Amino acid sequence: MTTGPGFLLPDRPVASLDDWLALGGGDGLNAAKRLGQEGTIDELRASGLRGRGGGGFPTGAKWAGVAAGRGTHRYVVCNAAEGEPGTFKDRSLMRANPYQLVEGVAIAAFAIGATEAFIGLKASFSEETDRLQRAMVELAAAGLVGDVPIRLVPGPEEYLLGEEKALLEVIEGKDPLPRLLPPYLHGLFSTAPQMGWIPAAAEPGHTEPHESNPTLVNNAETLSNVPWILARGPEWFRTMGTPSSPGTVVATVVGDVVRPVVAEVEMGTRLSALLNGPAGGPLPGRTWKAIFSGVANPVVDPSRFNLPMTYEDFSAHGTGLGAAGFIVYDDSACMVNVARIFSRFLAVESCGQCPPCKLGSGEITDRLERIEGGTGTDDDIGAIGSWLGKVTDGARCYLATEERDVVSSILRCYPEEFAEHLETGRCPRPRDLLVPKVVELSDGRVTYDESQARKRPDWTYAPA
Ligand SMILES: Cc1cc2nc3c(=O)[nH]c(=O)nc-3n(C[C@H](O)[C@H](O)[C@H](O)COP(=O)(O)O)c2cc1C
Ligand code: SF4
Repeated sequence: MTTGPGFLLPDRPVASLDDWLALGGGDGLNAAKRLGQEGTIDELRASGLRGRGGGGFPTGAKWAGVAAGRGTHRYVVCNAAEGEPGTFKDRSLMRANPYQLVEGVAIAAFAIGATEAFIGLKASFSEETDRLQRAMVELAAAGLVGDVPIRLVPGPEEYLLGEEKALLEVIEGKDPLPRLLPPYLHGLFSTAPQMGWIPAAAEPGHTEPHESNPTLVNNAETLSNVPWILARGPEWFRTMGTPSSPGTVVATVVGDVVRPVVAEVEMGTRLSALLNGPAGGPLPGRTWKAIFSGVANPVVDPSRFNLPMTYEDFSAHGTGLGAAGFIVYDDSACMVNVARIFSRFLAVESCGQCPPCKLGSGEITDRLERIEGGTGTDDDIGAIGSWLGKVTDGARCYLATEERDVVSSILRCYPEEFAEHLETGRCPRPRDLLVPKVVELSDGRVTYDESQARKRPDWTYAPA
């Protein structure tokens, strides 16, 4: 039986209910029922588990907040949308062991007293959908999913599907446009106004017209950890990782490495050990220049390649662990081009509800394109700096902050590359780069979504 790193992502997939039962499947839900709702949340708190969707928020505190929310209806949402460039860990987990995820959802639903639970993922994740569906049927037949109904919700390709406030909209049958308030304040199917005093009818089964239906949203990896913690206890979980970041992390590495990989390692493992070990090191004759955790965090430059992979170490060095999906660039890459493709991705995916986000990220992308193409001027650098100062104004979601943080960090860390373009009027490191939105990763081979380069800011696609 696996007891250390590797418990979440086993070498051999957990392909049937019998496989899951042999690993102790069902023990977590049984332990939760024994402990009761509060006891289960206390156990989660004691484990120190933090959300693996990008923010690292303490999971026990999140559950306690939603459980304490006002009203008759509460919901659980598993965020399995995995849209961050450079990540493939949630899809790998759903393929390797869908049972742990479904049991984690069932435990969360029990603990917060949910009416219903949802697993939101992209309609294009067909293998993951099949595996989850099979696991749900088998677990239900064996009486191992508890009493709360769980439904799979297929969603669109958009990056914003994974943003929690947009995911709720999609579960309600709408487009992935982030709502104003967070899920614990304005949850699923709430008829309460988000702002102002609009008269609203009571929802069926509710006693008051303005109930907010507090909703718990957790990432797929976060919830996959839950049955193990309940079955084996918080002390077991804390034998791995660091006091502030216990457990393991399922990391992805793509880009300029010998072997793109998804690997489960103990929290606190050095980034360089992941890159030189499972990812096989740099390509022959090359040296690494920049590493990004998705497109959501400031660049990790060579002086920080040895950072321990914990929330506290990454934040102390001015960046974030994010969803631990690492995008690696070596000395053959042009950092102006990297800034351009990241900014373009965010500008295209921005929904436009907040004008400074859509207009600013678009303008920054255009200026970066000019600089990269050799026709840029100092004015372009000035305009980029000015937009970076206001792109987050009035932002409903974190996408605008991603644009600000990632682009400004590249400008700060690689100023000489921008100067080279302006002075010589050409790119000294011409090389085609695709934003690494991963659509497949296995056996050391990665495939990126090539259609992303054709996606337009109105979410239509230019002809191939
Ligand atoms: C633009 C954007 C995209 C996101 N995409 C994802 C995603 O694909 N999967 C995910 O779990 N979280 C994603 N997040 C974070 C979620 O909003 C949310 O914080 C997370 O699901 C909470 O789960 P956790 O507490 O378990 O980490 C995204 C956030 C933003 C701003
Ligand atoms: S910040 Fe950007 S992506 Fe987020 S809601 Fe506003 S416009 Fe849309």
